[in-house]
Amino acid sequence: MTEKKRLLLGITGGIAAYKIAEAARLFTQEDIEVHTVMTESACHFVGPATFQALTGNPVYTDLWQASAMQNMPHIHLSRKVDLILIAPASADFIAKLANGLADDLLATLCLARNCPLLIAPAMNRQMWENPATQRNLSRLRQDGVGILGPAYGTQACGETGMGRMLEAPALLEALRNAMFSDKLFSGTRILITAGPTFEAIDAVRGITNRSSGKMGYAIAQAAIESGATVTLISGPTCLTPPAVHQFIPVISADEMLHAVQTTTPQTDIFISVAAVADYRAAQIQPQKIKKTNTALSIELIPAPDILQTVSQSPNPPFCVGFAAETEQLVQNAQIKRRKKKLPLLVANLVQDAIGADESELILFDDNGKHLLSKAAKIVQAHRIIQHIHTLYPQSGHLVS
Ligand code: C5P
Repeated sequence: MTEKKRLLLGITGGIAAYKIAEAARLFTQEDIEVHTVMTESACHFVGPATFQALTGNPVYTDLWQASAMQNMPHIHLSRKVDLILIAPASADFIAKLANGLADDLLATLCLARNCPLLIAPAMNRQMWENPATQRNLSRLRQDGVGILGPAYGTQACGETGMGRMLEAPALLEALRNAMFSDKLFSGTRILITAGPTFEAIDAVRGITNRSSGKMGYAIAQAAIESGATVTLISGPTCLTPPAVHQFIPVISADEMLHAVQTTTPQTDIFISVAAVADYRAAQIQPQKIKKTNTALSIELIPAPDILQTVSQSPNPPFCVGFAAETEQLVQNAQIKRRKKKLPLLVANLVQDAIGADESELILFDDNGKHLLSKAAKIVQAHRIIQHIHTLYPQSGHLVS
């Protein structure tokens, strides 16, 4: 890293605040200049002196204290940094952000910012699952705020579930990605498919694949953060889409193919993360099929292979495939990469990955295979985007 970057580290009230001391040390070791702002409740968990010592900069805790030092502190502090990271981000602070409140120094800084904002939520699992929290997070995603984690695991309260803040090394990696790779793909048009497809059998039933859409949505978020113009075509999921340039919801493989083919002429890179059904019903019954006591046969015919259709078209974009396997991961992935003529294929073992927030992946390209050790999907997404960047200029594909 050559250019020194400036970070505003916002700490809100939560026991995970103690972990941020370690993160602040890692950030400064990376030559990131860290300016810390703590909310009043954060100060009940950790002391400003810790962060002052670790970062070598004054720590701000109060709007009025900061006002005494400089005029308009909320403008100055947020203007002089390249990124704001709130870690831990409490449920209360997330609610404030989602509603644009500005009743303390940190919330005011966030509202007055003109730089990217990342938050690392940390809270009890029930607070995390509460519809109000999820609603607030959806709004923040739509506003372009990057959400790091949380992870699943044991919590300070003794319960187990979602809500653990990401560990310091994962936060550092996310920060590096957001601060140092933001221009990797500016001006590049990236198309991503995500989620499952649903192939109707009759008016109410259908065939689908187990896919949460989390990996595809994380890649869309990472692609946005790399400066790309992103189109996300998604099968049915429960997720809120990130702030992409264009979002196209679809149901079936045929609909996804149509949306992809409409978009590929304006696409430089196609990342096919969707778990597309391989078969669909030959005939969709318009009414609900009635139950009987005899066996029922449904004729299935192959669904279109969207990625193969695109990668073997006359002037294809740079194509990236995903392979989810239950056995013989390496062999199957290599066969698939050759068959679909892909410069890059990302493989994972499905038992570990579906619906999880972390994954372990292997990348296959012309240079061989590269392991991406277990990490949060957003971290993996940034690693994949960076890897694509190393291959993209040499792929012979020219950006039009
Ligand atoms: O299903 P399979 O393992 O062949 O999937 C590998 C890749 O091909 C994935 O990137 C997936 O998005 C894509 N695919 C597709 N259309 C299909 C099946 C898979 O685009 N019908």
